[in-house]
Amino acid sequence: MTSSPAPCLLAANWKMNMDHLKTLDFLRQLSLLLPEERVWKAGVEMAIFPPFTSLRTAQVFSNSYRLPISLGAQDVSPHECGAFTGEVSASMLEKLGCRYVLVGHSESRKNHHETREELVGKVKRSISSSMIPVLCVGEKEKGEEDWEEITSQAGEVFCDLEPEEREKVIVSYEPVWAIGSSMTASPDRISRATLALKGKMQEKFGLCPRILYGGSVNEGNIDSLMGLGLGGFLVGHASLNPAEFATIFQRLAEEGSR
Ligand code: PGA
Repeated sequence: MTSSPAPCLLAANWKMNMDHLKTLDFLRQLSLLLPEERVWKAGVEMAIFPPFTSLRTAQVFSNSYRLPISLGAQDVSPHECGAFTGEVSASMLEKLGCRYVLVGHSESRKNHHETREELVGKVKRSISSSMIPVLCVGEKEKGEEDWEEITSQAGEVFCDLEPEEREKVIVSYEPVWAIGSSMTASPDRISRATLALKGKMQEKFGLCPRILYGGSVNEGNIDSLMGLGLGGFLVGHASLNPAEFATIFQRLAEEGSR
């Protein structure tokens, strides 16, 4: 059984950065930057999503040094096992101690032309291997606020899940235009988007998923993004710097322990 995530999840999406040596160095620095036990107990769960090749290193380091971080994978195969060259199965990730899996990040949607059926398969495989899928949705253009794009991205995956599977999915709202652009969505826009998502999920499936925000989150804007009722943050670029990532974590922990 997978335990429920802490009230706030701070997830680091490293994308195709950080080989296993850099991962080791990052984790060493992180444990020095955050030595106090209380900061780890303030209701914020830290999860790192390194490339596949760094997962084992992260698993061994965090177990050996009792660093209370969770691990996530950036993708998973929709297939169980067999002749799928280059793919990594959910059970392989589970054995590496992964607790989370990113599904449908805008970069994989674009680069791998993921179909709806594949996204559904990835979510289902993750759940059947006791991992928590983090389904990413986001509008491509900043333009007019029209939440149809994001509600249908979530809806078209949720509609093929069993009710008990739906309850396990975390949704990450990641406007594509905000990713890696230094243009974070405004707090008001995030609130409106997440409200629309929650409303649609409630109406269609009778549930209110946990929602994260991602898109140019950093130490300079994290304060303005707290207090929006979000379930956490997915951080890309700013998570590659251990000092900046530790600062974001500390700010959230301070907020959580108030
Ligand atoms: P960013 O990436 O923080 O660099 O914008 C976020 C993401 O892609 O998950």
